[in-house]
Amino acid sequence: MKHNDPQFNRFGNLHHFLTLDGLDKQTLTGILDAAENFTSVNDKSIKNVPLLRGKTVANLFFENSTRTRTAFELAAKRLSADILNIDLVSSSTKKGESLLDTLRVLESLQCDMFIVRHSDSGAAHFIAEHVASTINVVNGGDGQHSHPTQGMLDMFTIRRHKGDFENLRVVIIGDIKHSRVARSDISALRTLGVAEIRVVAPNTLIPEYVEELGVKVYSKLEIALKDADVIMGLRLQNERMNSATVPSMGEFFRTYGLTEDRLKLAKSDAIVMHPGPTNRGVEIAANVADGKQAVILEQVNYGIAVRMAVLSITMGHGEAVREAEMAVSS
Ligand code: CP
Repeated sequence: MKHNDPQFNRFGNLHHFLTLDGLDKQTLTGILDAAENFTSVNDKSIKNVPLLRGKTVANLFFENSTRTRTAFELAAKRLSADILNIDLVSSSTKKGESLLDTLRVLESLQCDMFIVRHSDSGAAHFIAEHVASTINVVNGGDGQHSHPTQGMLDMFTIRRHKGDFENLRVVIIGDIKHSRVARSDISALRTLGVAEIRVVAPNTLIPEYVEELGVKVYSKLEIALKDADVIMGLRLQNERMNSATVPSMGEFFRTYGLTEDRLKLAKSDAIVMHPGPTNRGVEIAANVADGKQAVILEQVNYGIAVRMAVLSITMGHGEAVREAEMAVSS
């Protein structure tokens, strides 16, 4: 119900983008359609559109990032917004200023949007609850909870390669337990109606009650890969493991690494995805990561268009995006 979801404003418009849970198929498809339009902008020699001219977007990354931070920065710039990359390592929070006081400073600098990456689950929701109602908050990844723009760029990549979602068998391999990407992908894949989602990992990397998310659990990779259309690897999240959950990286690769031989068990046109950063020789063999079925760098590239869609829709330009789509298709 939109009126109970803190992501929507009282007019029923998407105002924050915090999680994919609870978003319906129409909302997700609207984002994918808008991103489709923005890919054509990104293919032009002049890549800017004036949709967010005069708006100020602040990247608040409390945790390291390469792909997400730079893709948001490019997305904001291509929409003609001003972008602030706040150096949180040397910010006043390190001098004892509370997070809320830092947010008040950024509010008084008249920022319009905060993009938040934080190691604590729920951080983006917390910030969305405490900022002025005029500010949009977008989750750039919070703890083990959610990474909604990664989820959407993964859906965009799948749709580009496979068209419809309905008949797809998707296999997610590895550290499901600590992965916000897996949670967002599973949520979106279910909403978009894929035929089957399989997760495969050692028991120690499978969260309790994962079947309630609507997935089938496998422990043997060779069985899980049979007839797969989409294969998603995940990074082993060492920083989120608080005990020895895998015997060694070498042992993980021997049992769960995606090798050329194992890839042959999937459909011949299966695509290989990974949110990055990839650990070659741990989750995926180098020749598979660089192979012709891999779409890993495409995912990074589509991350710009998908984030352009999320920024413009949450800032109230859904209508303008739709008009631009019609102009492109007519
Ligand atoms: N996929 C992803 O979130 O990568 P970064 O940590 O580099 O942003």
